[in-house]
Amino acid sequence: MSAYLEIAGVNHSFGGLQALNDCGFAIAEGGIACLVGPNGAGKTTIFNVITGFLRPDTGHVAFRGRPLDGLTPQAIVRAGIARSFQNLRLFADLTACDNVMLALPERAGETPFGALFRPFATARADRRRRGDALQLLDHVGLAARAADRVRNLSYGEQKLLTIARLLATGAELLLLDEPASGLASGALDQVMALLRRLRGEGKTLLVVEHNTRVVQQIADEVLFLHQGHLLAQGSPAQIIADPALAEIYFGGAL
Ligand SMILES: Nc1ncnc2c1ncn2[C@@H]1O[C@H](COP(=O)(O)OP(=O)(O)OP(=O)(O)O)[C@@H](O)[C@H]1O
Ligand SMILES: [Mg+2]
Repeated sequence: MSAYLEIAGVNHSFGGLQALNDCGFAIAEGGIACLVGPNGAGKTTIFNVITGFLRPDTGHVAFRGRPLDGLTPQAIVRAGIARSFQNLRLFADLTACDNVMLALPERAGETPFGALFRPFATARADRRRRGDALQLLDHVGLAARAADRVRNLSYGEQKLLTIARLLATGAELLLLDEPASGLASGALDQVMALLRRLRGEGKTLLVVEHNTRVVQQIADEVLFLHQGHLLAQGSPAQIIADPALAEIYFGGAL
């Protein structure tokens, strides 16, 4: 049986810098896998490869046994994989609701052409999209902020909004790049609770995370990346307790 998500032999260089070096791992369906490793280990780069934002020099990515090689980011979202960005990429001057609406997939017949010639159907479709967006905002705990502009939301609320946008795509595998970074403990707990809830609803999550407390609390499995290569994979207890990995991660600072 093939793995749910499988990465094999991926190499990628930026000029002379080899960011991914024979990178390979697999994750199973369901659960939360945390991708950890020091700054510059290649975590964001492998996200970019999986989601089609970067073409690797060599290697393959397969999802549910289907190769994703050469697909566009949009096609990969349609295949069921969506990702968030380390620097949120929200529309600061639009409302929270509009930000989610923009992430909803277009349905058949929803075209600018249709808006000209079928105004009533278009208005109906618009109401439906708004309803879907409000439901997603409610799901992440932002219902009360729907009409507020993103620039007026707290950083924690903006992080939750990026997750609502991921959910809007309908993807089953969610790749989150540091969803908890920069958050104070209240907002951190809220994000962790949401990630666990999504797991309970059947989503599979691959999460880049630096905070070991977060990793311990949410991860079913931890993957340790170092210099673009998977160094270890195991339970949070196994990985966090490994002195050799701690030395690499913290450079002996502990
Ligand atoms: N577009 C780019 N051009 C040149 N070098 C890049 C580019 N993107 C990443 N790199 C380099 O590739 C290496 C891996 O970067 P990457 O962003 O994947 O690391 P990371 O594990 O996500 O680190 P962090 O924990 O700091 O987010 C780093 O040395 C980085 O400087
Ligand atoms: Mg990164």
